[in-house]
Amino acid sequence: MHSTVICPGSFDPVTLGHIDIITRASKMFDNVIVGVFVNGEKHPAFTIEERISFLERTVGDIPNVRVIGCDGLLAQCAKDLGATAVVRGLRAVSDFEYEFQMALTNRKLNPDLDTVFLASDSSYTYLSSSIVKNVAFHGGDITNFVPACIHDEIFNKIKGVK
Ligand code: PNS
Repeated sequence: MHSTVICPGSFDPVTLGHIDIITRASKMFDNVIVGVFVNGEKHPAFTIEERISFLERTVGDIPNVRVIGCDGLLAQCAKDLGATAVVRGLRAVSDFEYEFQMALTNRKLNPDLDTVFLASDSSYTYLSSSIVKNVAFHGGDITNFVPACIHDEIFNKIKGVK
């Protein structure tokens, strides 16, 4: 049976931690769809087009990975795309409560949808998109946080907001 999974997120912006999880997922499943969500609750720093472009330039060359924009409920998007599981990274115990709540909600909405948690690489347990934006906003070095090919674009946009 061919496995199709979705790696959903805001990816505002994508970090090396996200890339680690997507790369791991690509080795475990036949098809990995990276779903970049509009996410109405948050006010993203980057447009959906920018976030998709960052991901395409960093994981777009992995043959079984596809990047798409998503709007609405994850449970419905997964169904429409034929994905049978959601893949999420867990950095620390503090992530668990929110992630568990999301996983159970998604399964309630779509009983065929399971969630698979992958442990982050230990070198990225502290890393988040918010940390990247905060450090860049103050002019700090984000070289170790984001892929080199999109570093300048991220840094300049966030720094330019100041
Ligand atoms: O990278 P994030 O911000 O932690 O990703 C959160 C995301 C986009 C996966 C989550 O907010 C989501 O699934 N949004 C879609 C709307 C939805 O399905 N909500 C109900 C599930 S709690």
